[in-house]
Amino acid sequence: MKIVTNIARAAAAAAGAIPRSHTLAGLDLLASAVVIVDAEGRIAFANAAAENMLESSLKALSRQRLCDLFSNPAEFEHVIAQARAHKFSDLRQELTLERPAREPLHVHAIASAMDEPDGNVLLELRETVQQMKLDREERLLDQSQVNKELIRNLAHEIKNPLGGIRGAAQLLEMELPPLHLQQLREYTQVIIKEADRLQTLVDRLLAPHRRPHIVGDVNIHEVLERVRSLILAEFPAGLAIVRDYDASLPEFRGDKEQLIQTVLNIAHNAAQALAGRVESGDAQITFKTRVARQVTLAKVRYNLALDLHIIDNGPGIPPQIRDRIFYPLVSGRDGGSGLGLTLAQTFVHQHMGVIECESRPGFTDFRILLPLP
Ligand SMILES: Nc1ncnc2c1ncn2[C@@H]1O[C@H](COP(=O)(O)OP(=O)(O)OP(=O)(O)O)[C@@H](O)[C@H]1O
Ligand SMILES: [Mg+2]
Repeated sequence: MKIVTNIARAAAAAAGAIPRSHTLAGLDLLASAVVIVDAEGRIAFANAAAENMLESSLKALSRQRLCDLFSNPAEFEHVIAQARAHKFSDLRQELTLERPAREPLHVHAIASAMDEPDGNVLLELRETVQQMKLDREERLLDQSQVNKELIRNLAHEIKNPLGGIRGAAQLLEMELPPLHLQQLREYTQVIIKEADRLQTLVDRLLAPHRRPHIVGDVNIHEVLERVRSLILAEFPAGLAIVRDYDASLPEFRGDKEQLIQTVLNIAHNAAQALAGRVESGDAQITFKTRVARQVTLAKVRYNLALDLHIIDNGPGIPPQIRDRIFYPLVSGRDGGSGLGLTLAQTFVHQHMGVIECESRPGFTDFRILLPLP
């Protein structure tokens, strides 16, 4: 609290905002946002992290009351008032601060009254978005595992009688009276064709769990180059695939074929979504690789991770399915079976990684993070 006491003294000395002196320079090194409000609730000081969080400079902030920045100030004012009343030495609370025309700010706020007669209160604000994002990812992961288990069991149940249905329709076809053969054969053919279609679907649903996971040394750029040539073979004109590779990426242990399938499914979706732009000749998919440091993937912390992005400039994922694209059988395409991304997600999980997606018109980014040695 020593620095803070000095700050408060400086605050008392200066009319209005506290100038950024040597004493305060240290606070700019903090990752937490620090704001000091005076007895009137006006901002007397904001460190660099606070300026960043509030997207304004100290100079601009110092003319305002902190609570006026938010459209739901009551809770926040209460925290400050409580701290000022010295009811607690410091007061901690999770707050959601609503900002006009912006997304709300989720913060963990710690308010401490400063031991001065002026009634200054020091607020430390830490964004909890990161934590909330992690919680959400964890929830989605559990949910998708439960869903996949359910679908897999269901697929098994459907698979068994399918063979019987198809066989019986074939036998029936052989027994059809010659007189009505053509007419009735149409019906048995519907049964046989639909049984075959279901069979293919069920096989795809069960596929990722059938093939053994074959592990070897994988160079991610070889994977990407393979996918690039496959996609370009299918779309020889009007589609550019841009490579933005970090050549320093190390090899890692993984199943190369699975990773090719993963990237291919994502790139294939992108190419399909780009159909309109392929025609006008400015369709673009970017493969971008980077190293990420200190990341948490599926609850485990890694020092290094591969950060792969597959970005396209297509129309974006239809909003009505955006939250569900990784679920099986969810498709926004005519004739799509909605399994490509489910498979991609399963393979990424088998590599202890995570896959996420950000999409808006003109920019869709599938991001895959995989642990590196
Ligand atoms: N890059 C993208 N741009 C726009 N929409 C996308 C993109 N990637 C996926 N989608 C949407 O997500 C849906 C689900 O994709 P997914 O690959 O799982 O299934 P699918 O492509 O419909 O069928 P398939 O099983 O043949 O791959 C797609 O139908 C499409 O609507
Ligand atoms: Mg697909």
